[in-house]
Amino acid sequence: MKLIFLGPPGSGKGTQAKLLAEKLKVPHISLGDILREEVRKGSDIGKRAKEIMNAGRLVPDELTIELTRQRTAQPDCKNGFILDGFPRSDAQANALDKMNLNLDKVVYFDVSEDLVVIRLSGRRSCKACGSVYHVKFKPPKAEGKCDACGSALYQRQDDEEKSVRTRFEVYQEQTKPLIDRYRSMGRLVTVDASGNIDEVFSALLKIAGDG
Ligand code: AP5
Repeated sequence: MKLIFLGPPGSGKGTQAKLLAEKLKVPHISLGDILREEVRKGSDIGKRAKEIMNAGRLVPDELTIELTRQRTAQPDCKNGFILDGFPRSDAQANALDKMNLNLDKVVYFDVSEDLVVIRLSGRRSCKACGSVYHVKFKPPKAEGKCDACGSALYQRQDDEEKSVRTRFEVYQEQTKPLIDRYRSMGRLVTVDASGNIDEVFSALLKIAGDG
């Protein structure tokens, strides 16, 4: 199954994509994770993306389009994938159409802005393995330490108030219009993303035909 996860920052796309990808045995392709890895490695792409990401703006389309094209061409994507955080602009959506990937559904994560602010402000991530926690909704067993690998947890720089505000503006202006685009193509499925992690996951399993 080939799915796109679309929704505001902090709506839970990454959390659910990890769970569903494991269940469906398909890769979870997160553009945010791929870009953060480039930043960590200090690559040319990472150097171009770092300040833009920290400020909460979109990195240039040509970069994300090329990264997506390369990643979805890998053999492990043949039978399906979950594309999390791409497309986020008209140019990206047009480029995706041209990739002819035979996408099944675009899942829109519907959740209020108030709730995503609470989710983002409590998010903690592991720099070493990428696991994601929440101080209240998904706390690690030992405070400040990753359950999976024991490394220290950190707060993403783009989860600071100023960057969060910019990310919302960018979402409203550039990404939200894609909802209508996919609705008119008959591809859009909306999930109520305001429930807890298990509730949202159950709804997604039904959408994926596995629940
Ligand atoms: P990216 O990392 O994709 O950021 P985002 O889209 O803003 O999404 P988030 O990671 O903030 O949220 P999420 O929806 O995955 O929520 P999560 O599951 O973590 O992108 C970062 C940056 O990279 C962008 O700003 C941009 O600069 C660049 N970029 C990426 N893609 C790009 C593209 N296509 N084009 C250009 N630039 C691009 O959950 C959030 C928190 O809530 C966690 O703490 C989690 O534990 C908790 N939580 C999750 N679900 C629930 C629930 N149901 N109940 C309670 N808590 C929950």
